[in-house]
This record gives sequence, structure tokens and C-alpha cells, in this order.
Amino acid sequence: MEKQPLPEGTEATGPALTRTVEIELEGQQHQVEVNPEKTILEAGLDQELNMPYSCQSGLCTACRGRVIQGKVTMSEDAGLSEAELAEGYVLCCSAKPESDDVKIIIE
Ligand code: FES
Repeated sequence: MEKQPLPEGTEATGPALTRTVEIELEGQQHQVEVNPEKTILEAGLDQELNMPYSCQSGLCTACRGRVIQGKVTMSEDAGLSEAELAEGYVLCCSAKPESDDVKIIIE
């Protein structure tokens, strides 16, 4: 059976939800649906965004973006320094949205 999307305006909480992430890439805003099995990078690539990446394992930082709103968790952040983490940088290849209002700038 096909999954029904949440009705507009429904408050979505909990870890295993599809969330919409706003990604600013090359000065353009994109809305990306990220389902719980995908990282933000995988979801962006699925929607044919030209997101930068290389290793896809959290080491090279090619996929680095900066979270300007919302909450994101990372399964691997070894490529980022403490200072980068403190400034809100994330590695999109290992990042998943944890809130419904995530905005990320890929610089
Ligand atoms: S693609 Fe290498 S850290 Fe994400």
C-alpha cells in the first residue's frame, strides 16, 4: 500500500518522518523531501539537484552545508572541525533532518 503524505499543516513529530528541507544551492532555493531512509544528500540527488559530493561517508567535506534553521543529526561528522560544527556546518551525505523547518545553504 502506498504511504499517504501528511495533510498540510499537520504537526509532525518523531524520528521516522519524511520532512521537507529547504536547500539553497548556487543562490537558488529548493524544497527537498527527505524520507527517513535517505540522507539529505541522497534526497537532493534523487530530485536532480546538482549537490556537490565525493566520498559519501562523512570524510571529504565536499558535501558540506551550513544549517541556518532547524535541527539536523549526523551519523558521521569526522570531517568537520569543532569550529565548523559550532558554526552549524553539516555534511549532507550523513545528515538527516530532525525538525520540519530545516534550511541549509550549500556554499
Ligand atoms: S561526500 Fe564526503 S563528506 Fe560528504
